Amino acid sequence: MKLFIDSANLDEVRELAWLVDGVTTNPSLVAREKVPFEETIARLCELVDGPVSAEVMSLVADEMVREARPLARIHKNVVIKVPMTEQGMKAVRTLSSEGIRTNVTLVFSANQALVAAKCGASYVSPFVGRVDDVGGGGMDLISDILDVFQNYVFPTEIIVASVRHPRHVFEAASLGADIATVPHAVLKQLFRHPLTDVGVERFLKDWQAAQA
Ligand code: G3P
Repeated sequence: MKLFIDSANLDEVRELAWLVDGVTTNPSLVAREKVPFEETIARLCELVDGPVSAEVMSLVADEMVREARPLARIHKNVVIKVPMTEQGMKAVRTLSSEGIRTNVTLVFSANQALVAAKCGASYVSPFVGRVDDVGGGGMDLISDILDVFQNYVFPTEIIVASVRHPRHVFEAASLGADIATVPHAVLKQLFRHPLTDVGVERFLKDWQAAQA
Protein backbone atom coordinates (compact mmCIF):
# COMPACT_ATOMS: atom_id res chain seq x y z
CA MET A 1 0.00 0.00 0.00
CA LYS A 2 1.28 3.45 -0.85
CA LEU A 3 1.33 6.08 1.89
CA PHE A 4 0.51 9.68 1.04
CA ILE A 5 0.71 12.58 3.46
CA ASP A 6 -2.52 14.57 3.83
CA SER A 7 -1.10 18.01 4.47
CA ALA A 8 -0.39 21.40 2.91
CA ASN A 9 2.15 22.28 5.61
CA LEU A 10 5.59 22.46 4.01
CA ASP A 11 7.47 21.67 7.23
CA GLU A 12 5.35 18.56 7.86
CA VAL A 13 5.82 17.35 4.30
CA ARG A 14 9.55 18.14 4.29
CA GLU A 15 10.06 16.07 7.46
CA LEU A 16 8.41 12.96 6.04
CA ALA A 17 9.19 13.41 2.33
CA TRP A 18 11.63 10.47 2.49
CA LEU A 19 8.78 8.17 3.60
CA VAL A 20 5.76 9.10 1.55
CA ASP A 21 4.70 8.28 -2.01
CA GLY A 22 2.52 11.34 -2.62
CA VAL A 23 0.65 14.29 -1.12
CA THR A 24 -3.01 15.22 -0.87
CA THR A 25 -4.28 18.67 0.02
CA ASN A 26 -7.75 20.09 0.40
CA PRO A 27 -9.04 23.68 0.56
CA SER A 28 -9.25 23.61 4.38
CA LEU A 29 -5.63 22.43 4.72
CA VAL A 30 -4.36 25.01 2.19
CA ALA A 31 -6.34 27.87 3.81
CA ARG A 32 -4.73 27.08 7.18
CA GLU A 33 -1.20 27.71 5.81
CA LYS A 34 -1.65 31.28 4.48
CA VAL A 35 0.70 30.57 1.54
CA PRO A 36 -0.62 31.23 -2.00
CA PHE A 37 -2.21 28.04 -3.37
CA GLU A 38 -0.14 27.70 -6.56
CA GLU A 39 3.08 28.31 -4.61
CA THR A 40 2.11 25.62 -2.08
CA ILE A 41 1.47 23.08 -4.84
CA ALA A 42 4.75 23.91 -6.62
CA ARG A 43 6.75 23.53 -3.40
CA LEU A 44 5.03 20.26 -2.48
CA CYS A 45 5.98 18.92 -5.92
CA GLU A 46 9.62 19.85 -5.23
CA LEU A 47 9.54 18.02 -1.90
CA VAL A 48 7.86 14.75 -2.93
CA ASP A 49 8.40 12.86 -6.17
CA GLY A 50 4.86 11.49 -6.47
CA PRO A 51 1.27 12.57 -7.11
CA VAL A 52 0.30 15.88 -5.48
CA SER A 53 -3.44 16.58 -5.36
CA ALA A 54 -4.67 20.16 -5.87
CA GLU A 55 -8.42 20.80 -5.55
CA VAL A 56 -10.54 22.99 -7.82
CA MET A 57 -13.09 25.28 -6.17
CA SER A 58 -15.56 25.92 -9.01
CA LEU A 59 -18.86 24.05 -8.96
CA VAL A 60 -19.55 24.08 -12.71
CA ALA A 61 -17.81 21.62 -15.05
CA ASP A 62 -16.45 24.12 -17.61
CA GLU A 63 -15.10 26.34 -14.87
CA MET A 64 -13.52 23.37 -13.08
CA VAL A 65 -11.72 22.45 -16.29
CA ARG A 66 -10.54 26.05 -16.79
CA GLU A 67 -9.27 26.11 -13.20
CA ALA A 68 -7.60 22.70 -13.54
CA ARG A 69 -5.53 23.27 -16.69
CA PRO A 70 -3.10 25.87 -15.23
CA LEU A 71 -2.81 23.85 -12.01
CA ALA A 72 -1.86 20.77 -14.04
CA ARG A 73 0.83 22.84 -15.80
CA ILE A 74 2.58 23.63 -12.47
CA HIS A 75 4.26 20.20 -12.45
CA LYS A 76 3.85 16.81 -14.13
CA ASN A 77 2.92 15.25 -10.76
CA VAL A 78 -0.10 17.49 -10.11
CA VAL A 79 -3.38 15.58 -9.86
CA ILE A 80 -6.59 17.61 -9.99
CA LYS A 81 -8.92 16.97 -7.07
CA VAL A 82 -12.56 17.25 -8.12
CA PRO A 83 -15.63 16.91 -5.88
CA MET A 84 -17.95 13.96 -6.49
CA THR A 85 -20.82 15.85 -8.13
CA GLU A 86 -22.49 15.52 -11.52
CA GLN A 87 -20.65 18.65 -12.70
CA GLY A 88 -17.45 17.28 -11.20
CA MET A 89 -17.79 14.05 -13.20
CA LYS A 90 -18.32 16.01 -16.43
CA ALA A 91 -15.08 17.82 -15.64
CA VAL A 92 -13.29 14.52 -14.90
CA ARG A 93 -14.39 13.18 -18.31
CA THR A 94 -12.91 16.21 -20.06
CA LEU A 95 -9.72 16.30 -18.00
CA SER A 96 -9.20 12.58 -18.49
CA SER A 97 -9.54 13.00 -22.28
CA GLU A 98 -6.81 15.68 -22.08
CA GLY A 99 -4.50 13.34 -20.16
CA ILE A 100 -4.89 15.28 -16.89
CA ARG A 101 -5.07 12.97 -13.88
CA THR A 102 -7.88 13.43 -11.36
CA ASN A 103 -8.64 12.51 -7.76
CA VAL A 104 -12.39 12.41 -7.08
CA THR A 105 -12.96 13.56 -3.53
CA LEU A 106 -15.82 13.49 -1.01
CA VAL A 107 -16.77 9.94 -1.96
CA PHE A 108 -19.22 8.38 0.50
CA SER A 109 -20.73 5.43 -1.43
CA ALA A 110 -19.57 2.60 -3.67
CA ASN A 111 -21.87 3.88 -6.42
CA GLN A 112 -20.14 7.26 -6.36
CA ALA A 113 -16.78 5.47 -6.70
CA LEU A 114 -18.16 3.41 -9.59
CA VAL A 115 -19.37 6.50 -11.47
CA ALA A 116 -16.06 8.28 -10.87
CA ALA A 117 -14.12 5.27 -12.20
CA LYS A 118 -16.36 5.08 -15.27
CA CYS A 119 -15.71 8.79 -15.93
CA GLY A 120 -11.96 8.14 -15.99
CA ALA A 121 -10.88 9.19 -12.50
CA SER A 122 -7.29 8.22 -11.71
CA TYR A 123 -8.08 8.08 -7.99
CA VAL A 124 -11.18 8.04 -5.76
CA SER A 125 -11.01 9.31 -2.20
CA PRO A 126 -13.57 7.78 0.18
CA PHE A 127 -13.59 9.64 3.53
CA VAL A 128 -13.56 6.95 6.20
CA GLY A 129 -13.24 9.24 9.24
CA ARG A 130 -16.24 11.35 8.29
CA VAL A 131 -18.36 8.20 7.80
CA ASP A 132 -17.30 6.99 11.26
CA ASP A 133 -18.13 10.45 12.67
CA VAL A 134 -21.81 10.02 11.75
CA GLY A 135 -22.01 6.50 13.13
CA GLY A 136 -21.33 4.65 9.86
CA GLY A 137 -18.64 2.11 9.04
CA GLY A 138 -15.90 3.95 7.18
CA MET A 139 -13.91 0.82 6.44
CA ASP A 140 -17.06 -0.98 5.19
CA LEU A 141 -17.15 1.67 2.48
CA ILE A 142 -13.59 0.75 1.44
CA SER A 143 -14.49 -2.91 1.39
CA ASP A 144 -17.56 -2.21 -0.79
CA ILE A 145 -15.54 -0.16 -3.29
CA LEU A 146 -12.84 -2.84 -3.46
CA ASP A 147 -15.54 -5.46 -4.14
CA VAL A 148 -16.95 -3.43 -7.02
CA PHE A 149 -13.56 -2.54 -8.53
CA GLN A 150 -12.37 -6.16 -8.36
CA ASN A 151 -15.19 -7.16 -10.75
CA TYR A 152 -13.85 -4.91 -13.51
CA VAL A 153 -10.60 -3.54 -14.93
CA PHE A 154 -10.73 0.08 -13.81
CA PRO A 155 -7.27 1.63 -13.52
CA THR A 156 -8.71 3.86 -10.77
CA GLU A 157 -6.84 3.62 -7.46
CA ILE A 158 -8.53 3.89 -4.07
CA ILE A 159 -7.13 6.48 -1.67
CA VAL A 160 -8.38 5.89 1.86
CA ALA A 161 -8.88 9.48 3.07
CA SER A 162 -10.03 11.25 6.23
CA VAL A 163 -7.76 8.94 8.19
CA ARG A 164 -7.91 9.75 11.90
CA HIS A 165 -5.79 7.12 13.69
CA PRO A 166 -3.33 4.25 13.08
CA ARG A 167 -6.12 1.65 13.16
CA HIS A 168 -7.51 3.19 9.94
CA VAL A 169 -4.09 2.68 8.29
CA PHE A 170 -3.88 -0.96 9.38
CA GLU A 171 -7.42 -1.66 8.20
CA ALA A 172 -6.79 0.01 4.84
CA ALA A 173 -3.72 -2.19 4.31
CA SER A 174 -5.52 -5.28 5.57
CA LEU A 175 -8.30 -4.77 3.02
CA GLY A 176 -5.78 -4.16 0.24
CA ALA A 177 -6.53 -0.50 -0.53
CA ASP A 178 -4.07 1.03 -3.01
CA ILE A 179 -3.22 4.10 -0.94
CA ALA A 180 -3.90 5.68 2.45
CA THR A 181 -3.48 9.44 2.78
CA VAL A 182 -2.52 10.10 6.35
CA PRO A 183 -2.10 13.27 8.45
CA HIS A 184 1.42 14.03 9.73
CA ALA A 185 0.58 13.22 13.37
CA VAL A 186 -0.84 9.80 12.46
CA LEU A 187 2.15 8.99 10.22
CA LYS A 188 4.43 9.69 13.20
CA GLN A 189 2.36 7.32 15.33
CA LEU A 190 2.97 4.48 12.86
CA PHE A 191 6.61 4.20 13.98
CA ARG A 192 5.78 3.89 17.65
CA HIS A 193 5.09 1.07 20.08
CA PRO A 194 5.64 1.31 23.87
CA LEU A 195 7.44 -2.06 23.92
CA THR A 196 9.87 -0.81 21.25
CA ASP A 197 10.72 2.17 23.49
CA VAL A 198 11.19 -0.09 26.53
CA GLY A 199 13.30 -2.51 24.46
CA VAL A 200 15.58 0.20 23.07
CA GLU A 201 16.09 1.63 26.57
CA ARG A 202 16.88 -1.80 28.07
CA PHE A 203 19.38 -2.76 25.34
CA LEU A 204 21.14 0.57 25.79
CA LYS A 205 21.29 0.19 29.59
CA ASP A 206 22.67 -3.38 29.37
CA TRP A 207 25.24 -2.32 26.78
CA GLN A 208 26.41 0.66 28.82
CA ALA A 209 26.61 -1.47 31.99
CA ALA A 210 28.95 -3.93 30.20
CA GLN A 211 31.27 -1.04 29.08
CA ALA A 212 31.66 0.30 32.65
O1 G3P B 1 -8.03 14.14 2.18
C1 G3P B 1 -9.28 14.40 2.73
C2 G3P B 1 -9.11 14.57 4.19
O2 G3P B 1 -8.16 15.55 4.38
C3 G3P B 1 -10.30 14.92 4.98
O3 G3P B 1 -9.96 14.68 6.31
O4 G3P B 1 -10.09 14.80 8.71
O5 G3P B 1 -11.07 16.64 7.32
O6 G3P B 1 -12.18 14.42 7.43
P1 G3P B 1 -10.88 15.17 7.51
